[in-house]
Amino acid sequence: MDMQKIRNFCIIAHIDHGKSTLADRLLQFTNTVTEREMQDQLLDNMDLERERGITIKSHAIQMKYTYQEEEYTLNLIDTPGHVDFSYEVSRSIAACEGALLIVDASQGVEAQTISNLYLAMEHDLEIIPVLNKIDLPGAEPEVVADEVIDLIGCDREDIILASGKEGTGIEDILNAVVEKIPAPKGNADEPLQAMIFDSVYNPFRGVEVLFRVFNGTINKGDKIKFVNTGREYDADEIGVLGIVQHPQNTISAGNVGYLISGIKVAKEVKVGDTITHIKRPCANAIKGFENVKPMVFAGIYPVDTTEFEELRASMEKLQLNDASLVWEPETSAALGFGFRCGFLGMLHMEIIQERLEREFGMTVITTVPSVQFKALMNDDTFKLINAPSDMPDPNLFKHIEEPYVHASIITKSDYVGPVIQLCMEKRGQIKNQVYLTADRVELIFDMPLAEIVFDFFDKLKTISRGYASLDYDLRDNKASKMVRLDVMLNGEVVDALSAVVHRDKAYEWGKRLCEKLKELVPRQMFEIAIQAAIGTKIIARETVKAMRKNVLAKCYGGDISRKRKLLDKQKKGKKRMRQVGNVEVPQEAFMAVLKLD
Ligand code: GTP
Repeated sequence: MDMQKIRNFCIIAHIDHGKSTLADRLLQFTNTVTEREMQDQLLDNMDLERERGITIKSHAIQMKYTYQEEEYTLNLIDTPGHVDFSYEVSRSIAACEGALLIVDASQGVEAQTISNLYLAMEHDLEIIPVLNKIDLPGAEPEVVADEVIDLIGCDREDIILASGKEGTGIEDILNAVVEKIPAPKGNADEPLQAMIFDSVYNPFRGVEVLFRVFNGTINKGDKIKFVNTGREYDADEIGVLGIVQHPQNTISAGNVGYLISGIKVAKEVKVGDTITHIKRPCANAIKGFENVKPMVFAGIYPVDTTEFEELRASMEKLQLNDASLVWEPETSAALGFGFRCGFLGMLHMEIIQERLEREFGMTVITTVPSVQFKALMNDDTFKLINAPSDMPDPNLFKHIEEPYVHASIITKSDYVGPVIQLCMEKRGQIKNQVYLTADRVELIFDMPLAEIVFDFFDKLKTISRGYASLDYDLRDNKASKMVRLDVMLNGEVVDALSAVVHRDKAYEWGKRLCEKLKELVPRQMFEIAIQAAIGTKIIARETVKAMRKNVLAKCYGGDISRKRKLLDKQKKGKKRMRQVGNVEVPQEAFMAVLKLD
């Protein structure tokens, strides 16, 4: 294929600015899909994605477009918008020469607009600015155009006005893709050098690897190797992606395709890895490969302890198609056998929990999420702390280090005060403040990741009435005064409620947690003492008074079926309860920490 007739591009946008809707329009306009095949948000084909209305996994699709009587091949590479999946965004971007920068004309530039734009600029992508949703009555194309001009230094005429909903501006966008985005460079005769930018798990065909060829040519049946994992395969099937797969015999430099080679486990395929030939390998792997590390850790336990093996089987299946999920078995005195899992972020954690429940019918308890702390031990080695139980004895270490992020928050100038206050409460330090326009500001903070992973984003949205967006990336570790806070019910430590918290906040945390637990733990036949402690020192206490709850009291007479019904109802209510010592604890209690105020 003539490389001059290929264009590889992606769409970058803040969440909900209309990326998927616009992508659908491009597919329709180029007749890549027929009206009949068209469903809303075609690219979001996981149920969960559709329901949440966000793109979780990126995909690629090829379109044919005729421009000035010449046919062009346009490869659209879809990128996920959420901060949890930022590594995938960066790899998708690296597979392109250009990007459509979509900005909602009623919202303006937001945090992910900027972070994704910077990623695109780092890779020298040609940026085509598009103002979307101009049909909205609240759209302010002039004001938002000023923001975009300030941001990327383009001319006003370069900005395309569009509405994915009404289909305006679509032809302008396609023309700009051909005119402005450079054709790929590369040499089809050199040794094969292709980058994996995504993989899709297919239970029947194994893992489908999506790749971009930078140099060389891959042929069906070739013996190939993934450079970073060192694994070798046969290219059983290669092809290009439309709405369905179109198998091909060769795919050469500049183009994008899929590969099927009987890989059964998603973990074998690492996004960012380089594919080359075994016989004539390329001299260098493609730069920028990273092993993705989990950021948030939590325990997952079956509600019904007899379902442990079933949970293990479900987790193994989940891991087949989600390479970023890591886990190992863990035991808790309160919850029994379960797994300590590592996630990319809070959204990823919620998705896993939901998938376990929906796809595998499991009912699970998730414990307090935590980030990874490190203890500098007295012998100068580091010990990793992924769970409160990993916290070593205070006499054995010099200090604890915690991960810090560089956080960017964009908000209206009216909310600068409250946003700064919130960030300071969360142990943030303001680093910079930049006015994007007269009434929109970007604030930069250094903040502990541990403070962000809880309810920070919800709070930010609340205090700014929705006018704040957040993006962050991990920077370094800093020494912090962290302690382990334990919770006891009638004197017994409930390990699943322990948390690693900053010492200055431990008293407040303990007090609020006890109060919250008092609301959540139902009265039982005896009094229950709820205590919070650091080491042996009790720092807070609440009491749940005893009560005799007799559900049969109202059942006078001998109607046995009615009694059964009531007893059944009571049993169901207990489903998500856990016995801790002699106390029954509901599931919500284990997550109480997340909603402390
Ligand atoms: P993520 O996949 O979560 O990043 O979202 P997205 O950027 O793909 O946004 P999506 O296309 O799902 O659109 C978000 C919402 O905006 C949906 O409710 C769309 O119906 C709506 N929307 C998209 N484009 C337009 C538009 O041009 N005009 C109007 N009025 N609404 C639009």
